[in-house]
Amino acid sequence: METSNTAKRRFEHIKIVYVDDEGDNHMGFRLHFSDEFEVETFTNPLEALAYVKREPDVAVLLVDQVMPEMTGLELAAEVHLARPAIICVMITGNGTKELAIESIRSRAMWEFLEKPVDFGSAVTRELIIAAIQEHLLSKVKNEYHQGTLHLLANLIDDKDGHTRAHSARVTRWSVRVGKKFDLSERELVILREGALLHDIGKISIPDDILKKPGKLSDLERKIIQTHPARGGQLLEKVPQLKELAPLARWHHERPDGKGYPDGLKGDEIPLLSQIVAIADFFEALNAKRPYKDPWPIAEIVKEIQSQRGKQFTEEVVDALFEVLAEDKLIDGAKIDEIKHAVAA
Ligand SMILES: [Fe+2]
Ligand SMILES: [Fe+2]
Repeated sequence: METSNTAKRRFEHIKIVYVDDEGDNHMGFRLHFSDEFEVETFTNPLEALAYVKREPDVAVLLVDQVMPEMTGLELAAEVHLARPAIICVMITGNGTKELAIESIRSRAMWEFLEKPVDFGSAVTRELIIAAIQEHLLSKVKNEYHQGTLHLLANLIDDKDGHTRAHSARVTRWSVRVGKKFDLSERELVILREGALLHDIGKISIPDDILKKPGKLSDLERKIIQTHPARGGQLLEKVPQLKELAPLARWHHERPDGKGYPDGLKGDEIPLLSQIVAIADFFEALNAKRPYKDPWPIAEIVKEIQSQRGKQFTEEVVDALFEVLAEDKLIDGAKIDEIKHAVAA
């Protein structure tokens, strides 16, 4: 990796990365772009991928298609999953119809440049400037999206009244537990956003039932139990939030089939919904509420262990215990003992 640092640049915090296994091609790129932008060049696409994943300011990625370690399209597909706001431009000397179709289908490539590229030409320059604009637009859209999600989460918690920051805390635990599974970057995004809105159906529950301090009647409990299905319906209707619907709809399902609203069993409950379910339950016991103190961790662990295979799948119980051990809330060496002691 080579880095250029020029004192005065027109565009601060805008990085352009060029990946080409033929290092000679890097020179022209540096010559024409390093005065205005921060530029990075790589001959190895795997090194470029690691860099792009950790660097927040990368706006545009120019990739050569034919490289020994991985193709430009494979690299762009990985980058697109991990950092969707980065705009990828393919540089190719042998652009076939098949490659064009594959690129469009993967949605990873934004544009093409023909080899050999004249980095000093107006056409190349305009294309790169347009790619930067596209990146900035995509970033702004994402900021609005995140802002909307947080606003909705605050509304949900406000509506419930006694669950301040419940949505954010369930999200944090869900992501921690989710990272114990082999989830893609996209699945982690869906988990994070779905956990944040898992109780959105509570918006439709009348206040006098949701905020009732005393014991609920059977009818009132049934009304509250409509919130997951209602939440699923609300999210289904919004194309940008549709993928989050299963997490809202099924966060009160149980592998033993005794959950609601659909009474799904075992693996019928998607993994992401199972993760939100255990994070939600853990948070409810772990949080202080006006009517109760937090449960001691040992008691929560005992309770969750007793629900292994009933309320929660074995896998998510194990994953949560691993997270608690990491936080030193339980002794990692004693996890097997915990399972054994409760089972006995
Ligand atoms: Fe809920
Ligand atoms: Fe909840």
